Amino acid sequence: MPSARTSKSADDAAQYVPEGADWAALRSASCGCRGCGLYKDASQTVFGEGPVPARLMMVGEQPGDREDVEGHVFVGPAGRLLDKALAAAGIDRSQAYLTNAVKHFKFTERGKRRIHQQPRRGEVVACFPWLREEIRVVRPRLVVVLGAVAAKALLGASFTLTAHRGEVLEQDGLRIGVTVHPSAVLRAENRDEAYDEFVRDLKALKKAL
Ligand code: URA
Ligand code: SF4
Repeated sequence: MPSARTSKSADDAAQYVPEGADWAALRSASCGCRGCGLYKDASQTVFGEGPVPARLMMVGEQPGDREDVEGHVFVGPAGRLLDKALAAAGIDRSQAYLTNAVKHFKFTERGKRRIHQQPRRGEVVACFPWLREEIRVVRPRLVVVLGAVAAKALLGASFTLTAHRGEVLEQDGLRIGVTVHPSAVLRAENRDEAYDEFVRDLKALKKAL
């Protein structure tokens, strides 16, 4: 008879997820995940961090270059912008659990630089069991999705972020607040305006906490 382990699909994270585990056991198991091909080139799994449980959980896309090196979420340029915007919105980062839709850094090499590449839908789906387990143990009152990749991970592939910025939606009993990714603010042509809109979203979402 096949065990629960082998009966799960071979190409997603589910087979690496210890059932019913607490946060520490999940994090430690995630270090050995080979649920998709992204573990091969990245330095390490970057699991979510913060208080468990937490009222607020925020979900980004994937670790960036700094996060890949340091092994912690949102410690690079996007993280610094997020810190500033959270402070401006009156949200305490240390009270929030921060994580990503995908736990390994995906990139292409250009000379010495490693350039971020957006994860494919298949990679987001493969990694979802970790996010699902984080939600189970963190039990957030509100999950804020930062950008389209995180939004689609929780709300489905056809979800359009721009139509729902600053809104709180409900899916399977989970309350999901929607805004852009801090990297999108850094890349925006009019950065000041993009930043102000980001802070405005965060302020609106804070009311749902
Ligand atoms: N961007 C993300 O989405 N997550 C990080 O941890 C860093 C940058
Ligand atoms: Fe596993 Fe996610 Fe890393 Fe893929 S990206 S190997 S599913 S932890």
